Parts: sequence; C-alpha cells; structure tokens
Amino acid sequence: MSSPRSPDELVATARRVATGAYAPYSKFHVGAVVVAQDGTEYTGVNVENAAYGSTMCAEATAIGTAVSAGVRKIDTVAVGTVEGADHYPCGNCRQPMGEFGVERVIVKGADGKARVHALADLLAHTFGPDDLVEHLEGP
Ligand code: THU
Repeated sequence: MSSPRSPDELVATARRVATGAYAPYSKFHVGAVVVAQDGTEYTGVNVENAAYGSTMCAEATAIGTAVSAGVRKIDTVAVGTVEGADHYPCGNCRQPMGEFGVERVIVKGADGKARVHALADLLAHTFGPDDLVEHLEGP
C-alpha cells in the first residue's frame, strides 16, 4: 500500500518537520518523511556536528527511525527544507533507500510543486542485497 497522502502533502510535512533540524553550521534545515509499506510515516531531520563529517542527513535519520521500529520495506521518501530549496537526496542517502526497497522519492520542485521520481532513476545499477546473496551462494 502506498501513502494515501498526496505528494504535495508529504513534502509539506517534510518541510514542517525540518523546523526541528539541528543545522547550526550549514543553516540548511532538512526534513524527511519515510512512508512504510503499510502507510505508517516516520520522520527525520539533519543532525549536524562540529566535526562536520559526523553530520547525519534527514533521510538517514528518518530511515533509521523506521528501521528501528521494525520496518524493512519502504514505499516512499519525501524531503523538504525550511528554506524551501529544491534539492535531491545526496548519494549517500540513496544507497540506504535502495537497501529498503524505496520506490518513490518526492522532492519539492523549483515551481513549488512536489515532483515524484522512481528511485531507479536516481540510483541506477545499484549494488544491493541480491549481489551479496549471489556472492555467498557462490558459483
Ligand atoms: N542534507 C540532508 O539532510 N539531506 C540531503 O539529502 C542533502 C544534505 C543536510 C546535511 C547537512 O546538514 C546540510 O544538509 C548541508 O549539506
């Protein structure tokens, strides 16, 4: 089951959630909504760190929250910023999206409307769980 909520609603929620971001360094406040297969929503924000490399993205914290609640299949991830910037998830966040079978990624377009993408279009020829299964089973 996918989300009963529209892409515009999910992006609006992501932007609202983003007000809780901890982003004193970049001042780029990001929120993410993860919609599990059963329609349950989990949210996350970016959590920055004085050691910049220890920063966590909003998508990563939202996925972590969902996974810790037992989710193993994610339908949709929507992202938005307080600042209203239109941006796509970074490469580092696309890989865990692939791990949990994300199908749709929703971002806010420059025209203010939500834009829906297939993860397959954002993350092509991915390395995933199946590759390891084949490796472990061996020739
Ligand atoms: N950021 C996210 O939370 N998600 C993305 O997809 C891109 C970047 C955060 C990380 C950092 O706190 C700030 O945005 C600037 O890079």
